[in-house]
Amino acid sequence: MIQYIVGVSLLLVSLIITVESRELADDVLKLPSQVSQFIHGDEKKDVDSVGTRWAVLIAGSSGYWNYRHQADVCHAYQIMKKGGLKDENIIIFMYDDIAFNEENPRQGVIINNPRGEDVYAGVPKDYTGDQVTVGNFLAVLLGNKTALTGGSGKVVDSGPDDRIFVYYTDHGGPGVLGMPNNPYLYADDLIDTLKQKHASGTYKSLVFYLEACESGSIFEGLLPKGLNIYATTASNAEESSWGTYCPGEYPSPPPEYETCLGDLYSIAWMEDRFVYSSLLKI
Ligand SMILES: *[C@@H]1O[C@H](CO)[C@@H](O)[C@H](O)[C@H]1NC(C)=O
Repeated sequence: MIQYIVGVSLLLVSLIITVESRELADDVLKLPSQVSQFIHGDEKKDVDSVGTRWAVLIAGSSGYWNYRHQADVCHAYQIMKKGGLKDENIIIFMYDDIAFNEENPRQGVIINNPRGEDVYAGVPKDYTGDQVTVGNFLAVLLGNKTALTGGSGKVVDSGPDDRIFVYYTDHGGPGVLGMPNNPYLYADDLIDTLKQKHASGTYKSLVFYLEACESGSIFEGLLPKGLNIYATTASNAEESSWGTYCPGEYPSPPPEYETCLGDLYSIAWMEDRFVYSSLLKI
């Protein structure tokens, strides 16, 4: 097995984050498919008849080298859309420098699986380029339009019966998540924002899926109980998260791709048969 090591240093000199990929075994990990429940709704009570489902999807990196994060986000968008969420309730943050990057062998196309179809088509470009910032991300979560700088102006304008799904994919380190523009997102600021969101009484439940190295450190011991937030992370507070579909590994991307197409934790929920079977019932 060839290891594919991508190192990115954040502001702190001591903080070197490595993302490694490894072979994808048949069932490497099983996630508790909370997202499937989110998409499909509560079968006992028809929650959707009163509440709205919202999704905030964010890729915190830029550069062709980080193809996989924006590919993950585009794929997640397609899943939300198939699950019946409306574009007005899906908010996307992506740098948007991949589809037409000169290194992209398929211009205008992004794939998240070696045999996958294009996931870029139709993705709303709410916050791109220098609009992908901590300030905008937190303002969107809080539904605070006046705190936005640029972008589409879409925010999570949610009410007490609404359910919110947040998916973040990027590099990370202990207590910090990457952003393509400075500053980075620190755990304390994210947790404060989630507490404020809860205090404003503007959701019923919130599901947070986080892919990043050391991503457990964002919530472990920091996220209080009683906020009705269910968070899962790609790794615990001390380990790497893993890219997948990387050159030289099995399964590999098509030979013309010199970058990883996805991340292991992310594709584990997005390719989960359970998610797909629940979509088919809608
Ligand atoms: C929204 O953001 C603005 C600008 O940052 C701030 O002054 C205001 O207090 C915020 N509103 C709420 C309701 O948090």
